[in-house]
Amino acid sequence: MKKETVVSGIRSTGNLHLGNYFGALKNFLKMQYEYNCFFFIADYHSLTTHPTPADLHANVKQVLVEYLACGIDPEACTIYIQSDVTEVTELYLLLSMNAYVGELERSTTFKEKIRKQPDNVNAGLLTYPVLMAADILLHRAHKVPVGKDQEQHLEMARTFGNRFNRMYKTELFPEPYAFNFGTQLVKIPGLDGSGKMGKSEGEGNAVFLADAPEVIQKKVMRAVTDSGPTHENQPKAEAIQNVFTLMEVVSKKETLDFFNEQYNTMKIRYGDMKKQLAEDMIAFTAPLREKIIELSKDEDYIHRVATRGAEKAKESAQATLSLARQSIGFRHF
Ligand code: TRP
Repeated sequence: MKKETVVSGIRSTGNLHLGNYFGALKNFLKMQYEYNCFFFIADYHSLTTHPTPADLHANVKQVLVEYLACGIDPEACTIYIQSDVTEVTELYLLLSMNAYVGELERSTTFKEKIRKQPDNVNAGLLTYPVLMAADILLHRAHKVPVGKDQEQHLEMARTFGNRFNRMYKTELFPEPYAFNFGTQLVKIPGLDGSGKMGKSEGEGNAVFLADAPEVIQKKVMRAVTDSGPTHENQPKAEAIQNVFTLMEVVSKKETLDFFNEQYNTMKIRYGDMKKQLAEDMIAFTAPLREKIIELSKDEDYIHRVATRGAEKAKESAQATLSLARQSIGFRHF
């Protein structure tokens, strides 16, 4: 049976943190052997914020290296840089003819951008969902592993694909749906007491895979914890629960049980707990960090992976585009 196609884009905006790892990447690792996966680094998308040429390149490299270090296997899936497969820009143009300004303006992400960066409301921001739809439709994907925040974009991708199919009386594009593999995704909290781990939440909130042990130690020891508990088996306040949730993903079950017991009997010392958490986080990230450092130096390998990924992605893209062009009526004289 032919494997279903999975596409996901990763924005190249800085280092991966534990939230990315447990929230998304772990899923990719399992998917890559079961589906026909395309994972790409969305560098065209990153241009909406006008990075310098040096930053652009360094960010793409960082993401690529980190994904490889975590176990994304270029033999099993197709990992590529978006701008290496320029076919996507043609599909973006074709789709944009049937994407209405009104519907693009209604996108929540766009409205949020207008609010957050009123001085840089460029057309690329408005058509961001069209480019994203092109990324997905380019490989005629069925499944798109993304977070809840991307649901609306995905719905637009379905709309644009269906519109194309209807308009040109074809069944070229299947409907892509959001997808989680296996169990419910874990939402990884940050260290600042509330909300999820993220790099925009401020310094010290996120633990990066490439962080040095001393840095992790410092961040974890500064994690917000409450006072208390004041009675036995008390429900945990958010900040405390966060530290426990982090322990759940990086520590042994015995360790977690031990601190739960300490908490429930009111003997807990948060300093001790954080010391243990830091130690376990360091043990978890150390091999990844080592791999990241090692791969970063291996320009040859990076070149080979990116080149091969681009080749495979182009093959798939060209097949789709050729059919799209035929449907529209483009013909060579
Ligand atoms: N918009 C996505 C994000 O912000 C990144 C992205 C771009 C993407 N193109 C995609 C995700 C295609 C899935 C499929 O995270």
